[in-house]
Amino acid sequence: MVAVAILAAGRGTRMKSSLPKVLHPVGGMSMIERVLDGLTVIQPSHTFIIVGFAQDQVQRALKHRPGLTFVQQAEQLGTGHAVQQLLTHLEGFEGDLLVLNGDVPLLRSSTLENLLTIHHQHRNAATLLTAQFLDPSGYGRVFCTEQNIVTEIIEHRDCTPAQRQNPRINAGVYCFHWPQLITVLPHLRADNDQQEYYLTDVVKDLHPTMAVDVADSQEIFGINSRKQLAQAYAILQDRIKDFWMAAGVTLVDPDSITIDTTVVIEPDVVIEPQTHLRGQTTIATGSRLGPGSMIENSQIGAHVTASFSVITDSTVEAGARIGPYAHLRGETLVGEGCRIGNFVELKKATLGSQTNVAHLSYLGDATLGHQVNVGAGTITANYDGYRKQATLIGDRTKTGANSVLVAPLSLGSDVTVGAGSVVTRHVPDDCLVVARSPQTLHPNWRPRHLRPPETNSEATPEVIPE
Ligand code: UD1
Ligand code: CA
Repeated sequence: MVAVAILAAGRGTRMKSSLPKVLHPVGGMSMIERVLDGLTVIQPSHTFIIVGFAQDQVQRALKHRPGLTFVQQAEQLGTGHAVQQLLTHLEGFEGDLLVLNGDVPLLRSSTLENLLTIHHQHRNAATLLTAQFLDPSGYGRVFCTEQNIVTEIIEHRDCTPAQRQNPRINAGVYCFHWPQLITVLPHLRADNDQQEYYLTDVVKDLHPTMAVDVADSQEIFGINSRKQLAQAYAILQDRIKDFWMAAGVTLVDPDSITIDTTVVIEPDVVIEPQTHLRGQTTIATGSRLGPGSMIENSQIGAHVTASFSVITDSTVEAGARIGPYAHLRGETLVGEGCRIGNFVELKKATLGSQTNVAHLSYLGDATLGHQVNVGAGTITANYDGYRKQATLIGDRTKTGANSVLVAPLSLGSDVTVGAGSVVTRHVPDDCLVVARSPQTLHPNWRPRHLRPPETNSEATPEVIPE
């Protein structure tokens, strides 16, 4: 049986943030959620989160995850002190305790499985993950015999210059045989530079403690500063992009593209430079996204194109062409084969298939049928100053350039709206509606300052009906 403890009580002073360190996102998901996701294959009997600094915030951020036990560490007196908080919770427990730092978010679950396997095979009292770093500064150094039996772990700040030359570092990932750990855990002393109770001090008294080097040392990258947060993000991005390229996705210029872990992409999608895919986004085959686009929490159908555009919380169905310079948001649905062109904003708009909104429009809270043509500059006036109002437009209706559709409003199907109209009332099917002041004509007209004094040019103008 394996219980898990994630250490997440520290403030993360070096982040200089009011947000607890473990809640900082790395690629769309908080550090601690990444650590939790790595545990699913292990199926722990208990999962403890040691919380302290801003614990309410941490608990709130994780409340949607079942099966977590939050253990309070009221004062943060060190990683050893953090694990001491479990003594009452795990009374009589005969299994192993896997301890993870909440700020080491890139661990693969296969690495944890391997650690547990070695721990059991050798019947170790403790087994911990290590790596050899070219620049090990900041990490605790692990001192071993030639058989990888750990004799001591010394924090960077407590090391002599000679000890700092040791490139083998402690990853902060440990498996302890709990009945043995509790014989030494209560006796830790805080006789170190930080005057903290270090979990790492238990290894001196736990025999045998074995070190296992990780195959990919990037996995155990720990985050203490904003710079390391950015480095972790870069590592994660490389992993994600390698994965999608191997799965048949073309990334034209991978360095300029970012993709969240939560995104799902089908083969034969092409992602052009400077394009960012975020949140719960799915992209179906044959689509070409970018250059210069951001797509967040959206479902993109097959063979869609979207250039220089922003799409958030929306669905775009197969074959639609978006952009350049379009903005879709607020649960917009663009139907099959639609064309959404330059400087068009769609908010909470539902468009049937083959509908075009090609230039300079804002459609908000609007439902459009199939094969509608929205003329350049058509705007829904959807806000009456108090609440948002709806606009309905039937199939094959065409709005002329610069129409204003004042909601609440419905236009039937096969309606034509004259250019420049301000439409305020329902229009039935098959009508032409023209709602603008008629054109007036003033023959022989001159500006007032160019008129001879005797000329009466204020005569009634001729009105020409349409
Ligand atoms: C720790 C290890 C170090 C290792 C490094 C790997 C110790 C003494 N040192 O150092 O050997 O190389 O991790 O990343 O363990 N925390 C608590 N309660 C506390 C103190 C810390 O829950 O009282 C939590 C923090 O929130 C953090 C984790 O423990 O998630 C590690 O603490 P941190 O202060 O970052 O330890 P490091 O100095 O990185
Ligand atoms: Ca750390």
